[in-house]
Order: sequence, then structure tokens, then C-alpha cells
Amino acid sequence: MVEPLLSVRNLTATFERHGAPARVVNGISFDIAPGEAVGFVGESGCGKSVTARAILRLAPEGSSIAWGGHILFRGQDLLRLDDAAMTDIRGRHIAMVFQDPMSSLNPVMSVGAQIDDMLIRHAGLSRRAARRRAIELLDLVGIREPASRADDHPHQFSGGMRQRVLIAIAVSCQPALLIADEPTTALDVTVQAQILRLLMRLRRELGMALMLITHDFGVIAGMVERVHVMQHGAIVETGAVDPLFAAPRHAYTRALLAAVPRLDTTAGPA
Ligand SMILES: Nc1ncnc2c1ncn2[C@@H]1O[C@H](COP(=O)(O)OP(=O)(O)OP(=O)(O)O)[C@@H](O)[C@H]1O
Ligand SMILES: [Mg+2]
Repeated sequence: MVEPLLSVRNLTATFERHGAPARVVNGISFDIAPGEAVGFVGESGCGKSVTARAILRLAPEGSSIAWGGHILFRGQDLLRLDDAAMTDIRGRHIAMVFQDPMSSLNPVMSVGAQIDDMLIRHAGLSRRAARRRAIELLDLVGIREPASRADDHPHQFSGGMRQRVLIAIAVSCQPALLIADEPTTALDVTVQAQILRLLMRLRRELGMALMLITHDFGVIAGMVERVHVMQHGAIVETGAVDPLFAAPRHAYTRALLAAVPRLDTTAGPA
């Protein structure tokens, strides 16, 4: 049995606010093995993003969360690390790609400078070496003429290209775990497929584990080995993708699957 890369045990998340605190993640446990791709599906508001962000100990902007349970990453509990150690983990060992590529990029900095920054801060590269690597990374994620595009600003890229840039930033320090929180929701369908293929390729080439979050079962198919179905802040069903698609046990999973019009589990290969 391979030692898990990430081991989440009995995770709880409670928003601290005036009046009654609100518990939105209610005792979640799961493992991710090194290099494994794991999917999380569930309807809007079920706690997918809060769970993902717990791993980086990030509360949504303007809020404060009390975490409970354990998040063991290579054996050390991230919920008990001091802030400096946690800053070192973020981006360098565990990286995250968010849903909205525009709001995650700095609009007044060239994309190259944003990648340089990561490499200088987290990997200790010199400015020159960082730029060389940034250009390689832009190439790796499929940006054409990466040397000149590195000087362009986010608004000069399409939505799909901006997501590629964010993925380049996320993988720049070769994290062991990449968390992708609805990475294609803001993109149109053809671009979605390209970004998903890119994530799969990078996962393979860089040997990363992938935590892929979506409310769309169609996205999970063919992307991950195992899937966790979430409802109301809990995991209600877990399984390998194919058996779970063929015979969901939980009524909620069946309802989610029924809501995916383009998924036809009885048809042959597309
Ligand atoms: N800043 C906040 N303050 C209080 N409650 C919040 C805050 N942000 C999110 N929540 C609540 O936490 C719960 C989980 O939210 P979360 O964002 O994790 O859902 P999600 O599964 O990612 O949904 P979606 O598919 O829409 O992204 C929801 O009930 C939401 O209302
Ligand atoms: Mg979310």
C-alpha cells in the first residue's frame, strides 16, 4: 500500500460570524495517493470549494473559518503548521487553479512577471533564470510564441489562454498536488475540453496528484480514477468512476447523474 500524499480526517469548517456560527463542512475524510487523480462532485453550495481551500488553509475573502480535524500532507498536519511553514507549502508543494482566470491574475503585471514572481519567491531562482523557465512553462501549457507573449498583460489573452497562464503559474514549482476548483466553468465547451486535456497531460508529465472539483459529472468521466460525491458538507458516496457511473448507490448520486444530459453510459466510445 502506497503511503498517501494527502490524508484528510474528519475535516470540519465553520464560518465564524455574528450570531450563530455556520458549519459547512461536516466531518470529511479522504486520501489522495501520490500521482492519483481524484474527483469531487456535488451541487452548488455543498462545500467543495471550502474543502479544497481548507487544504491551503484559505478562507474565502472577508471571512474567517475555524477548521477542525486533520489534514496530513506527507505526514505533517497542515492545520497545525505555523503561518511561515504554510506559506512555504502553498504554491510550492500544493497549488490551486480557480474557476475565474481573470480575477486570479494581476491585471497590471505581465503574465511573464507573474510566473517569474512564483519562481523567485518559491523556487529561489534568479530573475534571469526565472524568465527562462517562465517561457518554458508558457510553452508547456500551449501558449504560442511564449517569449514575446510573456510580456503581454492578462487582458491581451482570451479566457482559455488566461486559464493556461494560471495553470503555468500553478505548476511552476512542480507541486506534488494540484487542486483544480471548477477550472473550466467560466469557459466555453470546446475550450473546456482543451483545458481538461492539458491538465491530464501535465499531471502525467509532472507526476502530480490532481484534485478535480466540479458540479458536472461529464467533466469527471475519463479524467479521474476515483470520485467522491458531496452533499451538504459531507461525502455521501465514493467509488471508482466507471462502477459509480454504471450503478450509483446513493439516491443523490443518481439524481446528479440524471442531470447530465450529454452523458450516455449505454453508448459505445464517442
Ligand atoms: N464567506 C462565506 N461566509 C459564510 N458562508 C459561506 C461563505 N462562503 C461560502 N459559504 C457557504 O459555505 C457553503 C459551502 O460553499 P462552497 O463554496 O464550498 O460550495 P461549492 O460546493 O464550492 O459550490 P459551487 O459549486 O457553487 O462552487 C455554502 O453553503 C455557502 O453558502
Ligand atoms: Mg465552489
